[in-house]
Amino acid sequence: MSERLDRTRIPRHIGIIMDGNGRWAEARGFERTVGHAAGEQSIFDTIDDCLELGVEWLTVYAFSTENWNRSAEEVDFLMAFNENLLVRHRDAVAEKGVQLHFIGLSEDPRVPERVVERMAESERLSAQNTGMHVVFAFNYGGRAEIAEAARAIAEEVAAGSLEASSVGAAEIAERLYLPGMPDPELIIRTSGEQRLSNFLLWQSAYSELVFTPVLWPDFDREALIDCLVEYQGRHRRFGGVMSAEDAPGKQGKDS
Ligand code: IPE
Ligand code: IPE
Ligand code: MG
Repeated sequence: MSERLDRTRIPRHIGIIMDGNGRWAEARGFERTVGHAAGEQSIFDTIDDCLELGVEWLTVYAFSTENWNRSAEEVDFLMAFNENLLVRHRDAVAEKGVQLHFIGLSEDPRVPERVVERMAESERLSAQNTGMHVVFAFNYGGRAEIAEAARAIAEEVAAGSLEASSVGAAEIAERLYLPGMPDPELIIRTSGEQRLSNFLLWQSAYSELVFTPVLWPDFDREALIDCLVEYQGRHRRFGGVMSAEDAPGKQGKDS
């Protein structure tokens, strides 16, 4: 795909905070919602690029637990948009062997029933697939996810099926939305903002963060490769020390 990339060091799991749709539209004199629509192609092109690169997991942040703070008009648009987007693309995506997953608060009365049904249906229809996992983080918040795991643990302790003294990081990780999902080695955020905005808080403990100024509707293969090249130049230390031969820019063996 690109000579700039070391194909032996492609992350297993990439998380993407797809940001900048509103600014993309406003810069063109359009309503913010036009930017969300323009970002649709970027999602599915990125899925194709990740398939080609051999990425195993791709998680995209589609709607946060804080996005309810937007105007009713924009929220309504995003609900319908995400529902229709699944209908438009899920067959094509499933044919590529992709397994679709959704993480977030589904038992939330603010999420229209048909959106919940569409997500469950898409998950079911692709469940037999064995290819790349694509995770839509929808009505997702990292704090809510950890809080739900804490609540499950509290209930098990109260019921006597779990010892409080045996609760550690592994016990929390096992109770997150997708316990089998590996932590993302790389998290990309578009639009120049440099924060996580409640995305994969638990799983991002040791993720490399790459920020690109590109707005999400403009995010293409070149932009993805730029992010991967930056990632491959990083040295992941996990609390250890850096040896001279592992200095940034040198070949790593950690991905
Ligand atoms: C990201 O684009 C999409 C969602 C949060 C749903 P934004 O809508 O946040 O775009 P900006 O940040 O306002 O430009
Ligand atoms: C994060 O983007 C959420 C999604 C991409 C779905 P936001 O645009 O909502 O984040 P903030 O408000 O700039 O932190
Ligand atoms: Mg934004």
